[in-house]
Amino acid sequence: MRIIVTGANGFAGREVVIAALRRGHDVLAVGGSKAVVVPGLLRSITMDLCDIAAVQTLMLEEFPQAVINCAALATIDGCDREPAKAEALNIDLPRRLAQLSFHVGAKCIHLSTDMVFDGETGRYANTASPSPLHLYGRTKAAGEVEVLKYGREHAAVIRTTLLNGNSGTGDRGLHERLFKDWAAGKQTPLFTDEIRQPVSLSNLADAAVELCERPNLSGVYHWAGLEPLSRYDMGVKVAEHFGLDPEKLIRAAQRSDVPQLGPRPRDLSLQLHPLAGKLRTPAQPFADQLNELRIPRGTETWYEQATGRKVVRLLEKGIDF
Ligand SMILES: NC(=O)c1ccc[n+]([C@@H]2O[C@H](COP(=O)([O-])OP(=O)(O)OC[C@H]3O[C@@H](n4cnc5c(N)ncnc54)[C@H](OP(=O)(O)O)[C@@H]3O)[C@@H](O)[C@H]2O)c1
Repeated sequence: MRIIVTGANGFAGREVVIAALRRGHDVLAVGGSKAVVVPGLLRSITMDLCDIAAVQTLMLEEFPQAVINCAALATIDGCDREPAKAEALNIDLPRRLAQLSFHVGAKCIHLSTDMVFDGETGRYANTASPSPLHLYGRTKAAGEVEVLKYGREHAAVIRTTLLNGNSGTGDRGLHERLFKDWAAGKQTPLFTDEIRQPVSLSNLADAAVELCERPNLSGVYHWAGLEPLSRYDMGVKVAEHFGLDPEKLIRAAQRSDVPQLGPRPRDLSLQLHPLAGKLRTPAQPFADQLNELRIPRGTETWYEQATGRKVVRLLEKGIDF
């Protein structure tokens, strides 16, 4: 299948490219500010996806069978700083991709976020109404509506959550941020009363590509790992997995300890039904996700000293880990 992946340099997008190649697809990877480098990737371009005319040319020239949109302005702070860019990337771009996908008969898969919810109730069903607390969530919720408006039977929105995996930059993944603190001698405060349902990057990527392969699956879906966990529990599990002492490295904290943080969703746990029953890709328990994690670059010496274990780094062509 000919698949365009946008945001292919991003945390999620890069892994989506890898999954699509692994599953035998012909991938055109679209980067923004820099070229996409992935082992085995034959076709990539860079372009400004806010240039809607250029997006149209891309779609009409490439005539893809599927598009997976991983491009976004994907942080709360980023959207607050640049609201016009947030609207362009999180609303206008998905709208245009969905319209053009419909036009060329392509499946359009769009990544969205658990941040469309306010976190008051948790265990959100895919039919629950969005109630975002921030501009980021508001633009993502609006983007979902646009995608489905222009391609209900050809489009699928995947709301996903905290991504657990190895990033090219070494500072995006859940464990990578913890290791950075720990290697700098810091003890990390983690909330016991904030719940997320982390998902493995590679598992999310497989789910997204499988959705392209399954013409009958469309609409809004939730995809995450199997377990809702507090941030504190996640940290403890990460430390224990790597043979580190959580008591030394992590301090239990409550949201009320940091009043200046502003509104944050409390519980963004997601129900994976109905997608979990339809995909061949299985949702993963947290323990399986941990097995994919590598010691982040730059923290090896600290880790070897802390544990007495030797870090063996496998060289992978094109991957700068
Ligand atoms: N990260 C998470 O924990 C998380 C959680 C839930 C949902 N999500 C959703 O998952 C999706 C991907 O998130 P992510 O964390 O992977 O984001 P990310 O790492 O910030 O990647 C976004 C990508 O978009 C590209 N981009 C931005 N502006 C562009 C432009 N004008 N033209 C072309 N490309 C542009 C960037 O390309 P360059 O780098 O080449 O400039 C960047 O690599 C988003 O829809 C987000 O809402 C993420």
